[in-house]
Amino acid sequence: MIKCLMNKIFLAGILFPLFLFTLILPSGWCKESSEVVKLPEPKYTSTVPIEKALRERRSVREYRKEPLTLSEVSQLLWAAQGITGPYGFRTAPSAGALYPLEVYVVVGNASNLSKGVYRYKPQKHELIKIAEGDKRAQLSAASLGQQCVKSGAVVIVISAVYARTTQKYGERGRRYVHMEAGHAAQNVYLQAVSLNLGTVVVGAFDDEEVKKIFSMPKEEQPLVIMPVGRIR
Ligand SMILES: Cc1cc2nc3c(=O)[nH]c(=O)nc-3n(C[C@H](O)[C@H](O)[C@H](O)COP(=O)(O)O)c2cc1C
Repeated sequence: MIKCLMNKIFLAGILFPLFLFTLILPSGWCKESSEVVKLPEPKYTSTVPIEKALRERRSVREYRKEPLTLSEVSQLLWAAQGITGPYGFRTAPSAGALYPLEVYVVVGNASNLSKGVYRYKPQKHELIKIAEGDKRAQLSAASLGQQCVKSGAVVIVISAVYARTTQKYGERGRRYVHMEAGHAAQNVYLQAVSLNLGTVVVGAFDDEEVKKIFSMPKEEQPLVIMPVGRIR
């Protein structure tokens, strides 16, 4: 009993000064690089009717070397997975409202947004920076060298955590997740037309190489890569 008490006092003697030391460390010392970018509010009206966007949608693989604005990036991400209703309902439908998709943006040339890799957080309509620097060339190499991936001003990547859906729907849930990635991608296509931007769905890539760029955990799979840029 006494020995046990002595041990506790001894441990407290070591741990308490350590605790005090952590208080004088500069704030952010132990945080991972997690710059947060609040995105501008998306616009909910447009002069481009949905019929015109549907008629004009085309896969575009060549872009001008001009930056996208932060508002355009905001609008494209909102189109992919933005929150639009109660209970976190989104722009794209989701089986059982389980939302298995994650959305990233690789920024190479955008105004007021530094080069890097960001994760989109639909709930707060914000970006979390997860890696520094222009990763478009690396992503293009992982996409079997497709040039469009390198030349997009930004590249939107849609991935999925299948388990969020398969835990309810079993193996059939995988089918649902693929449908959802298609819905989100089509939203990006149509939003791009409305903004007079070009994009293309890229499905040919090396999964493992892409996962490395985004530090995706084992259970998350990349499904869609969409470079976006100004039409030439
Ligand atoms: C699932 C899927 C994967 C695709 N993968 C690629 C790709 O890796 N590279 C590419 O340049 N286009 C890719 N595309 C775009 C198609 O080539 C394109 O949609 C098709 O040529 C029809 O042209 P449109 O989209 O202009 O109507 C893909 C499209 C889909 C739906």
